[in-house]
Amino acid sequence: MDRNAPIGIFDSGVGGLTVAREIIRQIPEERIVYFGDTARLPYGSKSRDTIIRYSRQIIRFLQTMNVKAIVIACNTASAYALETVRAEADIPVIGVINAGARTAVHATGNKRIGVIGTEGTIGSGIYTEVMKKMKPDIEVFGKSCPLFVPLVEEGLLHDSVTDEIASRYLSMLKGKYIDTLVLGCTHYPLLRSTIRRLMGEGVTLVNPAYETALELRELLKSQDMSRDEHVPLQGEKYQFFVSDLAEKFTDFAAAILPGQVKETRQISVEDY
Ligand code: DGL
Repeated sequence: MDRNAPIGIFDSGVGGLTVAREIIRQIPEERIVYFGDTARLPYGSKSRDTIIRYSRQIIRFLQTMNVKAIVIACNTASAYALETVRAEADIPVIGVINAGARTAVHATGNKRIGVIGTEGTIGSGIYTEVMKKMKPDIEVFGKSCPLFVPLVEEGLLHDSVTDEIASRYLSMLKGKYIDTLVLGCTHYPLLRSTIRRLMGEGVTLVNPAYETALELRELLKSQDMSRDEHVPLQGEKYQFFVSDLAEKFTDFAAAILPGQVKETRQISVEDY
């Protein structure tokens, strides 16, 4: 294992950039190879078998880039594929769900937690399962919000259409008196201000990206895998790959990671 090798991060599209942003903030010395599966998005409405197949192909691609560890920066892929691909891989693989669940369980006072995510993530029941293992007496209320991903991908972050849809989705959770809400899809932190306004200041919003970055930092430290900052960088520190239409991704990425995305390359992920 080369400790100076990059970290591989993947998502169905731009959402995982919110996780990449936290990793860059928490462990700025590390190099990153990011893959957004823009040709096959959305993942949220696809079956477990399909998501496992996609994740395996992406991991094979990332391994051709010699990554030393992989972060599945997608809740849906973490829910469906993490266990399988982790058992198959010869490098560490982490997802975003454990980190998000842990933060929410620590944050709640009244033991009533809401989780919003894709149909896949909410339907899998994984957040409820993981959080109840951590604290059996909590109540978890899940709500899938299938239109949030296309709204974000269309850039409608502050728009009356988004307000209307968010208010319909979140009204069920408002009636449950939750004090903590997990943003269980990597696209949702981009709708944070709308969700904050509708849920009110009394509800803590949990973005699993932050804890995931901390978990990665600890993992690298404990396995003696952190990059040696004295070794000079060869090539770009951050590299971005997609499976379709690089321009749209680049525009979006520039908004989430200003100045970091110099170039986005398209690859044929089905070949891996
Ligand atoms: N960003 C992905 C997640 O965290 C879902 C987006 C999609 O449906 O592709 O679940």
